[in-house]
Amino acid sequence: MNEKLLVRLPAGNDRRYPVLIGAGALHELPALLLRQWRGRSVFVVTDENVGRLYGRAVMHDLHRAGLDALLIDIPAGEKSKSIDVYYAVITALLENNVRRGSVVVALGGGVVGDLAGFTAATVLRGVPFVQVPTTLLAQVDSSVGGKVGIGPNSGTAWRRS
Ligand SMILES: NC(=O)c1ccc[n+]([C@@H]2O[C@H](COP(=O)([O-])OP(=O)(O)OC[C@H]3O[C@@H](n4cnc5c(N)ncnc54)[C@H](O)[C@@H]3O)[C@@H](O)[C@H]2O)c1
Repeated sequence: MNEKLLVRLPAGNDRRYPVLIGAGALHELPALLLRQWRGRSVFVVTDENVGRLYGRAVMHDLHRAGLDALLIDIPAGEKSKSIDVYYAVITALLENNVRRGSVVVALGGGVVGDLAGFTAATVLRGVPFVQVPTTLLAQVDSSVGGKVGIGPNSGTAWRRS
């Protein structure tokens, strides 16, 4: 790893997290997870494009390190920041025995980060969350600061009465 920055949140000294920057940092993910969360299950959320490029290698590394890891693939694009995809991802976590100590990893751009982060924040009152940002926007902006969320579905089924 070439560089490690520490982000301190205004809420208190104990509320801080590192940002790790460096060529080949992806291969350090298993070691980083083991150091911080040994023995916990890992849910990797990615989109179809990033999954095709890096999903298999990441899962291979995680399994080889002895981590219990599941890859959850969502469609690429802004439309995935929706309540439907959120429901699908949180259902995948719940059906695969997510625990308070499980870790959610967002492997992708800002869409995956926002959706996976919102899921991690809301399942079981919140579980640890790690971002592996794969676009420039996600690396310099959306993965830093802790803001996550989803947007509207195109055909949301409610009406004002
Ligand atoms: N939370 C925040 O603070 C914050 C800040 C800024 C933007 N955002 C959000 O970020 C989103 C936009 O993020 P984005 O620009 O990363 O878009 P994105 O996540 O949709 O990624 C853009 C496209 O690039 C592909 N992709 C991602 N990584 C790739 C890689 N390494 N190689 C090849 N293709 C790759 C994706 O599959 C997708 O098709 C918006 O939803 C925006 O609201 C959030």
